[in-house]
Amino acid sequence: MLRFAADNPAALPSEVEALLAFGRAGEAESRYRLVTSANPALEQPGLMERIEAAKARDLGAAGNVLAFNRVQAHGADGRGEPDEQAIAAAHLSFAENVGIGFADVGGHAAVKRQIERRIIAPFQKPGLFARFRRNAGGGVLLYGPPGCGKTLLARATAGECQARFINVPVTDVLDKYIGEPERKLAAIFADARRETPTVLFFDEIEALAGKRGHSTSQHEMGVISTFLAEMDGFAQNNAGVLILAATNMPWAVDAAFRRSGRFDRMLFVPPPDRDARTEILRLQLADRPVEPGIDLKAVLAQTNGFSGADLRNLTDTAADLAIEESVDSGTEVPIATRHFREALGEVRPTTAEWLTTARNFAKYGNTGGQYDEIAAFLKQIGQ
Ligand SMILES: Nc1ncnc2c1ncn2[C@@H]1O[C@H](COP(=O)(O)OP(=O)(O)O)[C@@H](O)[C@H]1O
Ligand SMILES: [Mg+2]
Repeated sequence: MLRFAADNPAALPSEVEALLAFGRAGEAESRYRLVTSANPALEQPGLMERIEAAKARDLGAAGNVLAFNRVQAHGADGRGEPDEQAIAAAHLSFAENVGIGFADVGGHAAVKRQIERRIIAPFQKPGLFARFRRNAGGGVLLYGPPGCGKTLLARATAGECQARFINVPVTDVLDKYIGEPERKLAAIFADARRETPTVLFFDEIEALAGKRGHSTSQHEMGVISTFLAEMDGFAQNNAGVLILAATNMPWAVDAAFRRSGRFDRMLFVPPPDRDARTEILRLQLADRPVEPGIDLKAVLAQTNGFSGADLRNLTDTAADLAIEESVDSGTEVPIATRHFREALGEVRPTTAEWLTTARNFAKYGNTGGQYDEIAAFLKQIGQ
């Protein structure tokens, strides 16, 4: 039994160390938070990180054990024998129940509406769509500049559908050092079918769907055809599984991926406009100490071309400056306009470069009209 001397906060580090050593990361965290919230001066550099790491290890171990048990019990396809490839897949694709929804994504009203109508409704009302002879269809490809919320929207979509979310890092699937990609893919698709509803998300799909012919190896060809075959199988029987993918480089995605029943719907996730940036900044500041008189309008006026990720960088930088001041002055200094002004000198917007490339494709490579949304966006912002 570990006992704490409540009246001796100086013992905090050794108590927390002891709890960590006993594998009781949760208690270590509560103890640390309790004492440091009463007296922030007792914060120990690096200790919270070590607690977090211990918690993550516990969670990871539990998750792996669960996935392993499931596979042991049911086999890769829910029927067969326990299976090594399914175990490998379970390690690659971590199903989760995301705790976020559209309210956690700033702006993108038009995209959210499209997702609701074209993705969530058919997903939730397959009978209605069948009556109108409308196939709920294959997958949806989200595309747009980096850092503007594609991955966030995919997770939020799963949250809105109260579906499991399986995030497949395409580069890990392709990694030839960890097993055969074909078997891994098959196991991932099987895992998605096993428990529905599920959103199966392939992030940075261009790694897999790169234009064929350009130095595509035998190895990659095999993976691509397996992937397409799995998608085609899904188009026949896709009850309860929604397939989403995202890319920053839609022009690098092979046309074979966009055929009917595959990623036959594309959704443009544009850089955030003024209103969206306002919302994103509000979300970023929601749980941080902010000076009541802060002039966010003035800050936002300087954020043309910022992505959501750029805005997060900006807020983090402003927060760092406020922390520095707090440390120097010995009292908590909330984030104020001046911190943002200084941060704006350091953080640069990143969407312009992407838009330059996109402009060329919309102008010269828009053969099937697949970049109409980009063209409309460029027109709207006057370019
Ligand atoms: N619309 C948004 N609302 C809130 N936060 C955003 C938004 N877009 C981007 N972010 C922030 O930037 C981070 C990166 O966004 P992400 O969805 O990974 O971009 P993408 O997948 O398009 O590259 C998010 O985790 C979030 O913190
Ligand atoms: Mg992403």
